[in-house]
Amino acid sequence: MAEIPPSGPDVPSYGLFLDGRWGQGQGALENRNPADPSTVVSTHTLAGPQDVEQAYAAARAAAPGWRRTSPVKRGEILYRAAELIASRVEQIAAELTAEEGKTLAEARGEAGRAVTILRFFAGDCSQPTGEMLPSVADRTLLYSVREPLGVVCVITPWNFPIAIPTWKLAPALAYGNAVVFKPSDLTPLCAVRLVEALDEAGLPPGVLNMVTGMPAEIGDALTSHVEADGISFTGSNPVGRAIQAAAVPRGVKVQLELGGKNPVIVLADADLDVAVDQTLRGAMFSTGQKCTATSRAILHPSIADEFTERMLSATRGLRVGDGAREGVHIGPLVSEPQRERVLSYLDVARDEAHELLTGGAAGDGEGWFVQPTVYAGVDPGSRLGQEEVFGPVLGLMQADDLEQALEIANSVEFGLSASLFTRDLAAALAFAREAEVGVVHVNSETAGAEPQAPFGGMKRSSSHSREQGKAAVHFFTETKTVYITA
Ligand code: UN1
Repeated sequence: MAEIPPSGPDVPSYGLFLDGRWGQGQGALENRNPADPSTVVSTHTLAGPQDVEQAYAAARAAAPGWRRTSPVKRGEILYRAAELIASRVEQIAAELTAEEGKTLAEARGEAGRAVTILRFFAGDCSQPTGEMLPSVADRTLLYSVREPLGVVCVITPWNFPIAIPTWKLAPALAYGNAVVFKPSDLTPLCAVRLVEALDEAGLPPGVLNMVTGMPAEIGDALTSHVEADGISFTGSNPVGRAIQAAAVPRGVKVQLELGGKNPVIVLADADLDVAVDQTLRGAMFSTGQKCTATSRAILHPSIADEFTERMLSATRGLRVGDGAREGVHIGPLVSEPQRERVLSYLDVARDEAHELLTGGAAGDGEGWFVQPTVYAGVDPGSRLGQEEVFGPVLGLMQADDLEQALEIANSVEFGLSASLFTRDLAAALAFAREAEVGVVHVNSETAGAEPQAPFGGMKRSSSHSREQGKAAVHFFTETKTVYITA
């Protein structure tokens, strides 16, 4: 078993990263283990508005030099950071589990994902940066080139505390931007590890600045700062929309990745072993704390009983506990408020009279545990059928055919991901065409995002831009078109 970070007098303490130096902010944030909230994993000093000022000043000063640095050299730094993280996966995974709660296996996978993302964008630094075009004019060189936005603000959530910061910071830096980065105050340690790796890899001072802090204290200062040319945010819908509402009138480019209410549809011909396994993973793993988590299963009546029976036995077989322990499948919710939120949806489900099949309550122990929970007969229009829970809660529904299932699947305001389980090629193609989501899966779970592929949602799940892969460049750069007649 990997080593658990120390607590007590040996608890490590971290500050802010401003202009290439680690420094102190004010006060102290105690980063607690959600599986055992009496354990302090690390402490962090907090940024105030004046630290945000300093971060933007450093980023603005560093931006021109970084913009002019050869993309190939920028790529070399990202590649070195990837290798540093690769050499520290075990340590980062143990810390990730300790601060966020997901299992060690999931945490290892996530740290490995950060490595892959950094390698991808390191490689992309050697790819073409524009297009050569024929001009109607004689002796004219006509080309387009992508240029960095300048200074971007990156705000990341706690549920993927190293992967999401990496998938925003890697492209932001690869394409020549300076960054002011605020990680979630619930998972600051993974952010420290990522910044350490980028710093050690040779990022020049000021190109990346990290302000650990509380949203109430520095949120407005960060997102309304005159030096922010772009803001990339992953988190809740209300916060994302407020950032967008304030930034767009000022002409600031905004990228939002928000919630989901992701369905699986299981047709009569589906391989039920696959459908049950993938639905279980999507709904329950990472304790349901993914914007891509499965929260609705829409079943054909002919397989509904068997699917339900198998799903229940698989769900009851899940071991809930400290994610650092061997044999645990489901860790805690990340914090007490997050657990309260999930428990409040169990109250909603009771009030709405959905049929509770398993779970339905807090889990045992001191941590922020919730039992994996499944409801049947969920009305697609109910709150449980429409709203994002962000916990290990699955609602079962039925539909007579693919058309009706798609109608239910598409009847929510979100449009992030959706899965279909079938062996019917025509059904698969129809689903891929008609599902109103940014990510479609056939015979695989709703969660997951490979770094080389575009990721993002339709409808209210995003700002309609995409992250990762070749798509990431669209947000972090803008295009200049050049006509040269000579
Ligand atoms: C995944 O499903 O592996 O916050 C990635 C989230 C998404 C990322 C999901 N932005 O859950």
